[in-house]
Formats: sequence, structure tokens, C-alpha cells
Amino acid sequence: MGLLSDWQRRTWQGCPIYLHPERPDWLVPGPEADQLLQALQGASSLDEAARRFPGRRSLTATRLAMERLHSQLDHAAPPAYHGRGAELQLTSLKECWFHLTNRCNLACRHCLFAASPAAQETMPPALLRQAISEATELGCTLFYFTGGEPLLYPQFPALLREVLAKPSSQAVVLTNGLLLAEQLAAFTQLDRARLHFQLSLDGLAESHEALRGPGTFDRLLASLDLLRLNNFHATISVAVNRANLGELPAMVKLAAEHGVGNLHLLWHFLRGKGNQGQFVPPAAILPVLLAAHAEAAARGITIDNIESLKGQLFSSPGTRYDGSNAGWESLAIGPDGMVYPSPALVGIDALNCGAVSDGLEKSWRQSPVLAAVRRASLTDSADYEANPFKFLIGGGP
Ligand SMILES: C[S@@+](CC[C@H](N)C(=O)[O-])C[C@H]1O[C@@H](n2cnc3c(N)ncnc32)[C@H](O)[C@@H]1O
Ligand code: SF4
Repeated sequence: MGLLSDWQRRTWQGCPIYLHPERPDWLVPGPEADQLLQALQGASSLDEAARRFPGRRSLTATRLAMERLHSQLDHAAPPAYHGRGAELQLTSLKECWFHLTNRCNLACRHCLFAASPAAQETMPPALLRQAISEATELGCTLFYFTGGEPLLYPQFPALLREVLAKPSSQAVVLTNGLLLAEQLAAFTQLDRARLHFQLSLDGLAESHEALRGPGTFDRLLASLDLLRLNNFHATISVAVNRANLGELPAMVKLAAEHGVGNLHLLWHFLRGKGNQGQFVPPAAILPVLLAAHAEAAARGITIDNIESLKGQLFSSPGTRYDGSNAGWESLAIGPDGMVYPSPALVGIDALNCGAVSDGLEKSWRQSPVLAAVRRASLTDSADYEANPFKFLIGGGP
């Protein structure tokens, strides 16, 4: 057995990465350390490794350098892992998504909920208040509002005021932005430090309007400017598809020019009007994402998805990421008054986790669907043994 048999060496564009998949841990060595580590990998003793090293140092100096390097790496066996269902406990809810309505002032060609002006399903206000109050009791402090178009929900600013009445609460509103000007005066009465708007931009003018309709691009930019003028936080969300992928770096530039500090990318769902023709495989997204990241870094703005991945990669060694927080710390409520594991799954019958009217806590703790979601773990995945990046990336939701 080699001295570094618990570490794997991979390369990305010529850059070596050493990974300890089970801990997990990783490092990127400089060229000489890489040579030392490679010699260590195949050898069964430090003497043997030192003899294999092609460098110009003396055997003793090489052996010393190797010993130091070897001792810096953790070789203790990590604790056994039996999946997150066995490791975690339900403690408190952190966030709740409220899909207020399927009504929309647009009828976008990619909409996973096929929302439109004709759609009617809307969460009854009393049920919504019950859900917000129960979620708060369960520890939730982050309230997302989406749809359809949440700004069409009756007395929406008053709803935000109720949510933000608790000083620890934060609200995030996902919106197409077109109705912002009408409600801005009411929004300015709220605590801007705890109210965030996420506006959808689905490409430069032509691609955006091909999905969202004529005139929507300029109106969106005007809303962004209005938010900036009134000191609101705004994020841009981009549903990445075949038509707008190549425009991502230019969209980053546009966002920066309109004072937006970060972008949030949504990966395409094949649901509702979202179709296969719009889908882009992840491998095709990566180079454009890297170019967009470079553009963002040059302009001092961030891409949420990269920041959250960075957060995972630079966690303390030994931190295992396994799945999303759906069903554990996060729930979604649909316009039908039903609970679902996550916002993209709202309205899917097989994933109905129970009625809010029967109690949010009951669904959260007792729904068999949520129990299955919580049990689902990387340990079930086909490439669990073979994938050295699994605990760093955490798998899909
Ligand atoms: C469903 S909309 C609701 C909020 C609001 N109406 C809006 O458009 O921002 C929320 C986000 O989902 C995105 N979206 C719609 N259809 C999608 C799909 N098929 N795949 C991924 N994201 C999608 C939208 O572009 C938007 O950013
Ligand atoms: S993506 Fe948003 S704006 Fe477009 S139809 Fe769907 S809900 Fe409406």
C-alpha cells in the first residue's frame, strides 16, 4: 500500500489537485510539492519515495522534505458515514418559500409553472398568514415570495410589512419587476436592510424579450434603476438556457452598470413550458460560467452560485456536504395550500407533503415524502465510491 493511498491526484487544465474523498479534504500543491507527493503516492516507505524523486536535492534533503509534507497531511481514518438521515436531526426551520399565486402579468415561454394572466390559483390569505405564523414558530427567519408574479398578490406590501414586523425576519421577493414602480411608495415604508428583490433577466434585449415579451427588457432595467435610486438591495436572477448562455458575461456587465452587486443563476427545469430545446448540458455551461465569473470579478460583483460553491470548498476540512437543505431547514408552500419540499417542486402531486390547514409542523415532521427526501443521501448515488468530489460538491438537490 502506498504512503498516500488515501489521497487521489486529479488534474484540471494541467493544475494538480489532491483530494481525500472520504474526509473530505483537498490541496493544490506547487510544482515541486506535486513531484514529492507523486513520488510518495507510489512508494511504501519514505526511503523508497526519496529514491524515486527526480529532483536535484540530496537524498537526505528530499527525504526530510517528504517527511514534512507527509506529516502535514491528515492520514487518520475519517469517521464512518451512513448517510445524512443517520447523522442529522430536525432542529428548526430556517427558510420558507411561498408560491403565492400562479397568476402572472406575463406568460414567459420557459416558465416552469406555465404562469399567465389566465391562471387563477392563489393562496387564500388566511391560510398564508397561518403558514407564516407557524413557520415563524418553527424558527424560520427567511421568507421567500414567488409565483407567478408575487406583486399581483392582494395587498402584497402589507403582507411584507407583517412579515418584517419581527426584527429577525428577512424577506426576498422574486419578481419580473414590471409592477415595482406602482408599489414602490409602499415598499419604501419597509426596512430596506431586510427586504431583498430578485429580478429576472433572461438575456440581453432580444433573448429576454423572446421569452418574456416585447418591451419587458427596458421596463426591467428601469425597475432596476428605480430600486438603486431608492437604496433597495437587488439581485438579478438568470434562468440559463440555450439562447442566453453566450450572453452571460455581457449580462454580468449590464448588471454592474445598473448597480447590481450579484447574479443568481437558475439551471433550466424541464417542467411546464420549460423544454428540452432550451436546455444546455452542464459541461457546455462551465466555460461560459468561468468567463462570466472573470467578468464579475473584474467588476467587483459576485455570482451567488460560485460564492456558495466557494463556501463549500473552503469550509473546514472534514465538512461533508450532502444534498440540499430541502425538507430539513426549508419548505415550500404552493398556491393550493399544500407543502412541498422545494420551490421548483410546487404543484407536483407525488411530492405533496400535506396541507397547511392540517398544520405546517405536522407536514414538516411527519410527511412520508419529506422523510424520504431527508433520508436521500449521496450514499445512495451510483458513483458514491468512485466520485472523489462528492462531499465537496454535495450532489444535486
Ligand atoms: C417562476 S419565476 C416567479 C417570479 C417572477 N414571476 C419572475 O419571473 O421572476 C421565478 C424564476 O424562475 C425562473 N424560471 C422560469 N421557468 C424556468 C425554468 N423552466 N427553468 C429554470 N428557471 C425558470 C424565472 O426566470 C424566474 O427567474
Ligand atoms: S417566469 Fe415569472 S414572469 Fe414569467 S410567466 Fe413565469 S412567473 Fe410569470
